[in-house]
Amino acid sequence: MARKIIKSRFFFEEGYVEGMAEVPEKEEYERWGPDAELKLIGVDVPRIDGYEKVSGDAQYTYDKILPHMAYGKILRSPYPHARITSIDVSKAKQLDGVLDIITYQNVPKIEWFGMSYLFDPHLRYEGDEVAAVAAETEQIAEDALELIEVEYEELPFVIDATLAMETDAPKVHESGNIQGGGPDTYTRGDIEKGFAEADAIVEGTYTTQVEIHNPTEFHGSVAHWEGDKLTIWDSTQGVYSVRGGVAGALNMPDSKVRVIKEYMGGGFGSKLTTGKYTVMAALLAKNISRPVKLAVDRRAMHLATGNRPDAVMAVKIGARKDGTLTAMSHIGHGAMGAFRSGAGSSTPLRTMFKCPNVYTEEYDVYINAGQGRPFRAPGRPQGHFSLDSSIDEIAEAIGMDPLEVRKKNFTDVDPMSGRPYTSNKLLDAYEQGAKAIGWHRRQQPAGSGEGPVKRGIGMATQIWGGGGGPPCYATMKLNRDGSARVIAGTQDLGTGTYTFMAQIAAEVLEIPMEKVEVVLGDTGVAPYCGSSGGSTTAPSVSPAVRDAAELMKAKLMSGAAAILEVPVDQLVYSGGVITDSQNSSNQVSIQNIVRQMRERVLVTTGARGANPDGYAINSFGAQFAEVEVDMRTGQVTVVKIVAAHDIGRVLNRKTLDNQMHGGMIQGIGYALMEERILDRNTGKMVNANLEDYKLPTIMDMPEMEIIIVSDGDPLISNTGVKGVGEPATIPTAPAIANAVYNAIGVRMKSLPITPDKVLNALYG
Ligand code: MOS
Repeated sequence: MARKIIKSRFFFEEGYVEGMAEVPEKEEYERWGPDAELKLIGVDVPRIDGYEKVSGDAQYTYDKILPHMAYGKILRSPYPHARITSIDVSKAKQLDGVLDIITYQNVPKIEWFGMSYLFDPHLRYEGDEVAAVAAETEQIAEDALELIEVEYEELPFVIDATLAMETDAPKVHESGNIQGGGPDTYTRGDIEKGFAEADAIVEGTYTTQVEIHNPTEFHGSVAHWEGDKLTIWDSTQGVYSVRGGVAGALNMPDSKVRVIKEYMGGGFGSKLTTGKYTVMAALLAKNISRPVKLAVDRRAMHLATGNRPDAVMAVKIGARKDGTLTAMSHIGHGAMGAFRSGAGSSTPLRTMFKCPNVYTEEYDVYINAGQGRPFRAPGRPQGHFSLDSSIDEIAEAIGMDPLEVRKKNFTDVDPMSGRPYTSNKLLDAYEQGAKAIGWHRRQQPAGSGEGPVKRGIGMATQIWGGGGGPPCYATMKLNRDGSARVIAGTQDLGTGTYTFMAQIAAEVLEIPMEKVEVVLGDTGVAPYCGSSGGSTTAPSVSPAVRDAAELMKAKLMSGAAAILEVPVDQLVYSGGVITDSQNSSNQVSIQNIVRQMRERVLVTTGARGANPDGYAINSFGAQFAEVEVDMRTGQVTVVKIVAAHDIGRVLNRKTLDNQMHGGMIQGIGYALMEERILDRNTGKMVNANLEDYKLPTIMDMPEMEIIIVSDGDPLISNTGVKGVGEPATIPTAPAIANAVYNAIGVRMKSLPITPDKVLNALYG
């Protein structure tokens, strides 16, 4: 049970950081390797919170209703770039039912994004926060917004990253429009020499659009003060992250802030850190001494709560006739919006294939639009679109099967660090995925099928992190009725965290799942776990839960030894009963152990162990798409997607399928229809709603086949799980783009692949 503190790299709030973590000194139990015989793990398990969800019992943030609660609304900038010259709230305040209005004039300067304030009179995008109102009802708050009189000085704006990089472009920030003043670059080997060694070289510029997260559930908070203690119900991917963010913003101790997130309708990265709306709800609640609910509406979600940055990527690839890649370069830029956010897209090119000579150069560009945020595999769908399209191009240039080119450049060593992967079953994913889609059926040559509706098949790859890691803890309480409660400071975004925690506890203690209760998403009661991002939740939390349960089992064995008066190594644990192997009538149930110990409840706290030294941990996968392209309308229809991935151990096949389906569906939206459209003349978003912003619906669903080629990876952790939240999103759009090429023989280099672009490419 001893613990030690180690240096560790872990997912924190929005990305990976170096830090310290407490881990078990050693595990006294076997890791679950590929051969582990498990009853509840890896099979279809219905969600334990399913009833609450379908019955409407589950409380989402918006469902929270407190006595005397008031409602908040935010007034947002109508302009992409402006300065507030005057603001008059007196008329709004006179409206019956208006309780408070906050603006930059009556709120102290609270630093935000490191380069602005909670309320900043300098407005840098349409949707930037101008004022917040608290009122008796949502409708009154809404009406009050219209009565706030603001005079704006409109400023020149720039809403396109390419234009923003020009020297005479309007400045979003005084420091200039390129984050850090210049590009991020990466060099491996000798790029010129690599291209000189190539038998063929292909070059292309690929562009991708801004995509909006659009989780089903709004962003929002309910803030409630009791004396100097603040409780917040928040729709967040990181309860501890929000606790720290709010405490920092309001200059109060972390311990005075409690953040609760019971149920959630998705985040996709847009809910990883503290929202302005959360701090505004807390400020309003404090001013009026009443709880305040502040929900961000769908329009504001399109404008202000994050997006996937766009990308312009010039990719050049050289290969020998046998398919060996000799050099690859990626020069790109992307619009991160008005505030700092990663827009890089070159990681796939640096890491997916073995290639000795690589050069990348990337610019993160400020524009007058809402801030980009991490979005389901940040940078990767963009990067794999340009990379996997280019791999297909080079394959055609050397007359080789594109799948064979990918196989040829497989690597079992991380090309950036030189470290071996803990596991990499990508070759199995290629093999099984190709078989499932019927790879031999693709058009040869491309575009040679019969019209007017042509079919094509394409593929693409993915590499993602998602190994998770410490620090992450879980507490287990075992009651004398034999039921257990597992408590962890993680959160369930809708992905199935509740269920896998119960599965693991039940698996280890060999008790029915119905006897396990899970508590999560509450900083007031749960030990620390990181934010749910980077596909790290299951890889980080599952080993901590297993550790807590194994410690409980060890404690029970020790208790049984004392009760039965035999040494521990003579005891056998089975189905919640501990038996003397020398005398099978000498036995005691776990209930009776707790009873006889007179504690009524036994407690253990487990920890996620350290990741192994000297290894890289990644998930890998390949996806295959079959499409139809209507040569008359330009409409692309996805017929089938096969997703074949190495994601370590499957905890719950049902929730895994949900994640894979969601990733593919979001990928279809990205490939074919989703796009933030800003008006060039006004700088305003013209499709900030779910009618004009096209999301895929049930009518767009293809057949989806999921193949998991991996099992438990014992090097990673005691459960051998890699993350599954992001992988399926990544290769979907590039596989569709390659399939479209295979169907029509014309390469689409711009996402989304809309009918107008297809017609233009065919006949334009
Ligand atoms: Mo994810 S973009 O880390 O929620």
